[in-house]
Amino acid sequence: MSEPKKLYIKTYGCQMNVYDSERMSEALGGQGYVETQSPEDADMILLNTCHIREKAAEKVYSELGRFKGLKAEKPDLKIGVAGCVAQAEGEEIMRRQPLVDLVVGPQSYHRLPELEAKARAGEKALDTDFPEEDKFEKLKNRPKAKRGPTAFLTVQEGCDKFCAFCVVPYTRGAEVSRPADRILREAQDLVERGVREITLLGQNVNAYHGAGPNGDMTLAGLIWELNKIDGLERIRFTTSHPNDMTDDLIEAHGTCEKLMPYLHLPVQSGSDKILKRMNRSHTAESYLHLIERIREARPDILMSGDFIVGFPEETEEDFQATLDLVEQVRYGYAYSFKYSTRPGTPAAERPQVDPQEADDRLQRLQALITRHQREVQDAMVGRTVNVLFEKPGRLPGQMVGKSEYLHAVHVSGGELSAGDLRPVRITASGANSLAGALL
Ligand code: 5AD
Ligand code: SF4
Repeated sequence: MSEPKKLYIKTYGCQMNVYDSERMSEALGGQGYVETQSPEDADMILLNTCHIREKAAEKVYSELGRFKGLKAEKPDLKIGVAGCVAQAEGEEIMRRQPLVDLVVGPQSYHRLPELEAKARAGEKALDTDFPEEDKFEKLKNRPKAKRGPTAFLTVQEGCDKFCAFCVVPYTRGAEVSRPADRILREAQDLVERGVREITLLGQNVNAYHGAGPNGDMTLAGLIWELNKIDGLERIRFTTSHPNDMTDDLIEAHGTCEKLMPYLHLPVQSGSDKILKRMNRSHTAESYLHLIERIREARPDILMSGDFIVGFPEETEEDFQATLDLVEQVRYGYAYSFKYSTRPGTPAAERPQVDPQEADDRLQRLQALITRHQREVQDAMVGRTVNVLFEKPGRLPGQMVGKSEYLHAVHVSGGELSAGDLRPVRITASGANSLAGALL
């Protein structure tokens, strides 16, 4: 038998890319590849790229340039670019960097085996179409390898919201939901392989409306079906849009026992003027009212969010409105970014905020968010939480896992294994994690 070929995948960006990289690795497994952690050993290098942050394409080109030496030493080495930069740049990638053999957009991963064969035959292989078929259905059915206790599962892709700053509707395309039966089968399979917590993924996950046995199913409907799977202990989902927080989903947060009390619900800004210019189609007040309703359903829910500062035409007053909103919500986690232009999006053409002013706002916002994060985390001390243990910690005999609120929790001693779900009393709050003792 010939030696297996080695595949090195580098993943950038969101959890959906992590999921996609796993599927690509499985698909190329069928072509005789095994994964390696070092590019020097690889017969194929695949960069799974992200386009959400600034100068994404430039960073990919400079990363590609670093493989020049490797390719000179090993002419059979194939280099591929996947993900949102592949989608956005297309053929241009091969023009600008001739050592690239393969370019594949996120909707075409099921064609990877054909593309790989084409690249092996010495041709340039490119696919950035948006086909109608379910790529994951075509990517499945690798041998049933054991898995860790947590997994991502993509249920929905793409977005029709067209926020004025965002490339996702262009790189990931229109919103598409996978049929519920396929998701449920995949979830069952994950559980049989050792998974106890599933995070449902989608760029607009709560807009999920996949075909179910009696017409389309909502995300809440899907969660209730997943709730029935024996051995699955926890369900999470991300990322949601405020306008798609339907009543049944809010209610599920209060009644569905496996649905975790954590919700990532980006608002982006606290100023109605800016929200309007961002094309967000909600106001600060409607967002706050929504959170009130979610907290009525599940009082202990930990809220998480995303913010953009320095969006075109944001004034100090608009920024103050963002700080006010953050004060009112008190996020347990929040991610804030300085606006950066994405060519082709509506906001790219508008007058930009002074970069120093934007930096200053970002620092002020992050200071406030960090303070709240700290307070929310510190308030866990003395409480009992359930921890799903994932892996050994840095100290001997220590294990790390996540509480239902997604805080990392360290526990020492107690014969714990990955996959154990145990009540833990929190004893201390550290820089980025909690410490506790088994009950
Ligand atoms: N500039 C800055 N931040 C952005 N995000 C998306 N597009 C941009 C952009 N052009 C942020 C949003 C989104 C998160 C994933 O990334 O806050 O919710
Ligand atoms: Fe981008 Fe999210 Fe807005 Fe869709 S809803 S355009 S993914 S920020």
